[in-house]
Amino acid sequence: MELVLASRNPHKVRELGALLKPHELVPLPADIELPPETGETFEENARLKAEAAAHATGSPTIADDSGIEAAALGGRPGVRSARFAGEDASDEENLEKLIHDVPRDGDRRVAYVCVLVFATPAGDRHAVEGRCEGTLAEEPRGSGGFGYDPAFVPIDYSDGRTMAELSQEEKDAISHRGRAARLMLDWLAERDEAAA
Ligand code: IMP
Repeated sequence: MELVLASRNPHKVRELGALLKPHELVPLPADIELPPETGETFEENARLKAEAAAHATGSPTIADDSGIEAAALGGRPGVRSARFAGEDASDEENLEKLIHDVPRDGDRRVAYVCVLVFATPAGDRHAVEGRCEGTLAEEPRGSGGFGYDPAFVPIDYSDGRTMAELSQEEKDAISHRGRAARLMLDWLAERDEAAA
């Protein structure tokens, strides 16, 4: 199925494009504005984006909202991960703030969360959530991935590498986005079967 992706983050477009195969992800047309991320939950934000894109394009859409939760910060930055160090903060500034704010001798647990929402102009909706648990490294390491990846050490591999030190395939196998995408693929397949 052709799905419009309600995102302009090139990293997400690349990761989701590979993860949602054989469906074809089409970038959001440049003239369509996405609503501001005003929701208090990942699902609310993803739903707002998916519905706006489905309405504006007349096509089925997928939207993603994701972020990182730090146990020592009561789950922050959560839905504010992209703006943690300020409205126009860079990935590096957000990462630096997280490493600074999580106490060195405190609870170092972090989790990545990704909610994907499928929406059609006719009003079909489906949301799935993927999580990836890890710990926060004291210093950034590695050059792959994006965002908080250089300081996120997933529990799924025992060698202590950060997400930014994994290959794309290794990241996809365990990441929040990979897990959410596989749940969405299963649901889309069931939906197709039910319609056949
Ligand atoms: P969104 O565009 O509002 O969903 O923002 C997501 C935020 O979480 C951005 O700051 C990203 O850097 C961060 N984030 C989400 N997924 C990942 C990931 O896979 N790796 C690193 N950072 C991520």
